[in-house]
Amino acid sequence: MATIRFLGHAAFHIEGEGLKGLIDPFLTGNPQASEGADGFTDLNYIFLTHGHGDHLGDTVQIAKRTGATVVANFELCHYLETKGLSCHPMHIGGRWAFPFGRVKMTPAFHGSGIFEGDQVIYGGLAGGFLVEVEGKKIYHAGDTGLTKEMELLAEEEIQVALLPIGGNFVMDETDAARAAAMIRSETVVPMHYDTFDLVRADAGRFTELVGDASRVVVLKPGQELRF
Ligand code: NI
Ligand code: MN
Repeated sequence: MATIRFLGHAAFHIEGEGLKGLIDPFLTGNPQASEGADGFTDLNYIFLTHGHGDHLGDTVQIAKRTGATVVANFELCHYLETKGLSCHPMHIGGRWAFPFGRVKMTPAFHGSGIFEGDQVIYGGLAGGFLVEVEGKKIYHAGDTGLTKEMELLAEEEIQVALLPIGGNFVMDETDAARAAAMIRSETVVPMHYDTFDLVRADAGRFTELVGDASRVVVLKPGQELRF
């Protein structure tokens, strides 16, 4: 049995055989965060979809403390290695067999700059992750607009898709429902909304729009989904 726990915004804890991981661990400064960064002591992987602060979040601090390997694009890995982290570089379309299961990096239509002081550091291309654990597939879309590339994911037979619905920077409810119809996962979980004024969305409306295309599970921060 694999477990996904929503930590608020686009942050998730994911646990299954051989995997104790975080995705986009933005906890400090996240008004939605269900827990603090210090609570995570036993982790082996952190997946990072792109370099924006609301995803990079506490990655450096948590990875340093736990020794977790960060999985990210090649450019972000270079940046994180300069901070002393150990990183597994990947890139869009690539798949790698980790001890817990395979991971594919998926495309996202979005930026990935790292903002450090008054500098913007090039962070490669934004992406998403298709993570296999215990033979189940979890798709974290990262930040993205709607793209036809998502049609390709239907062939993956995904159990749980985590999709942004907040609009403005990412898909809104309508586009995220169109994405859900393309991806055809068993379950879809909305994320990346109601954290800030620029990403307000209505999860109930998203649920209605998805209709019969997929089961929608709306998680509150701190709630988990077992599958
Ligand atoms: Ni972003
Ligand atoms: Mn974001």
